[in-house]
Amino acid sequence: MFRILRQLCWINPFKGDVPVSRVWITRPRTRGKTLPFPTRGNYHQPIEILATFFAKAGTERGRAKHNRYLEIPGFDPVMVTRDPEVIRALLTATGTGEGRLDRDTMPSTGIARATGPDTLLFSNGPEWKTHRKASAKAFGKTSLFTDDVFEKFEHTFRNNVQQRVGKLKQYFRDSNIGEIELALEPEIKCIMMEMLLFNFFGAKVEPQDVREHYIPAIDKVIDYIVRDTIDQQFDFIRFRKRKEKRPDPELEEAFGLFEKLTDLSMAPRSEGACAWARVDTKWSDDDLRSNVKVFLAGALEATTSYAAWAVSHLARNPECQSRIFEEVKTIDSFETVVIDKALYLKNVLRETLRLTPSLYFLPRRAVSDTWITLADGDRLLLPAGTHILLDVWHSNRQEEFWGEEKTGYRADEFHPERWETIDKAGCSKKYLHFGFGHGPRVCPGKHLGELEASLVVGGIVKLFEFEAVTEKNDPKAGVSTKPRDGTLVRLRLRQS
Ligand code: HEM
Repeated sequence: MFRILRQLCWINPFKGDVPVSRVWITRPRTRGKTLPFPTRGNYHQPIEILATFFAKAGTERGRAKHNRYLEIPGFDPVMVTRDPEVIRALLTATGTGEGRLDRDTMPSTGIARATGPDTLLFSNGPEWKTHRKASAKAFGKTSLFTDDVFEKFEHTFRNNVQQRVGKLKQYFRDSNIGEIELALEPEIKCIMMEMLLFNFFGAKVEPQDVREHYIPAIDKVIDYIVRDTIDQQFDFIRFRKRKEKRPDPELEEAFGLFEKLTDLSMAPRSEGACAWARVDTKWSDDDLRSNVKVFLAGALEATTSYAAWAVSHLARNPECQSRIFEEVKTIDSFETVVIDKALYLKNVLRETLRLTPSLYFLPRRAVSDTWITLADGDRLLLPAGTHILLDVWHSNRQEEFWGEEKTGYRADEFHPERWETIDKAGCSKKYLHFGFGHGPRVCPGKHLGELEASLVVGGIVKLFEFEAVTEKNDPKAGVSTKPRDGTLVRLRLRQS
């Protein structure tokens, strides 16, 4: 009752040293291109929805232009922040125990309905901690970063690419043209899926089945997840109980294949193959099954997004491409030292996650009134129930935080050299891009993702020269962001 009264009187519920300014949905001039919440008409434009929170925010003073909230009487407040110090403090304050934040489950309801809710991604509190412990060793850097593991990933990459290169050579011979226009994202997705299945889980699946059956099925499941999440929100608003049925037979078949792929990924557990060797036997298959589904769908999305963005940026920056080629041209086997030796490639990947993060926002929830403290000692009270969207996409593009004055290059442009400036100044700890998150819920798949992206991006540059077909490099966003053009390039084989 008190809350509704406060909301009707437009009293700001946030307290402390960090100002959080209100987004006035009633004033058309602040609306930007769309409304500041998802509707059936705009849900496929989530980056624009986030941008709406900052439309005309320039008139606010200091931090208030980066920390905004929307409040509709009767509902919990929604806060969007693009303030890196607030983002860092909120990520650090996430986890178990008093005064900690949860990951907001609302944006991942669709994922949970497809995989089961008992996962590392969806759970909070002690249940989350148990999942984290169960999977920690499988993803550990020391177990993944060995020459033996790297060699196996490289073997999968080579096998996949050799077949495609063979076909390309044939095409060039037959057509007498030395180049082809190709969308690389589906090819990258296929390699990522094979590496996850063959090298991480040790699954025995035919590569042709991966390409022709399992990937299209997972794509369908992921599309459904995005629609289902938004439908859930509308049903919640209408207080209607949701039907459990998926009436589309093609979708049913896709979910069936997703189950089958989960079985195939779990089968090698009994032989202790690949990452399964590092999973404690105290966890039953049932304890792990939902997580395996999250890893299959989530990792495929995130790693494909990561490498597809890197290739898309390189396709528009021939000089960056040449610098990577100089680094990788003499590398004949993918050993662990490659990751440290290929410093420019490393900076290309860092810059990719900064400018075009795969996960464009990170959701948090204040379960009770929660004070957070920033690195400079400033404090902020988040009222109980607040949904918080950490808008890393827009934060990383703010001139004030990442621009010419601070890093030597414009914030909204792709310049891997910016990281040389940052490293030279010895302040890389200050410049966090949050591409893998931060704090207790940082991505457990970070090392696996780095391994795969370095191999795929380095390998593509070593084999091909490529340039973008379209000038603009716009995003499309669903579960993750991807280049809108599907990484469409003109591709030529390098002379070997
Ligand atoms: C390489 C590209 C990847 C990127 C850019 C990425 C990004 C992220 C980010 C930003 C988070 C933090 C989310 C938050 O704080 O709310 C996260 C969490 C997570 N990631 Fe990744 N990820 C990648 C690869 C992977 C892989 C390969 C796996 C598994 C095989 C994975 C599994 C997970 C899981 C389960 C979580 C939730 C962890 C928790 O809540 O404790 N990710 N990822």
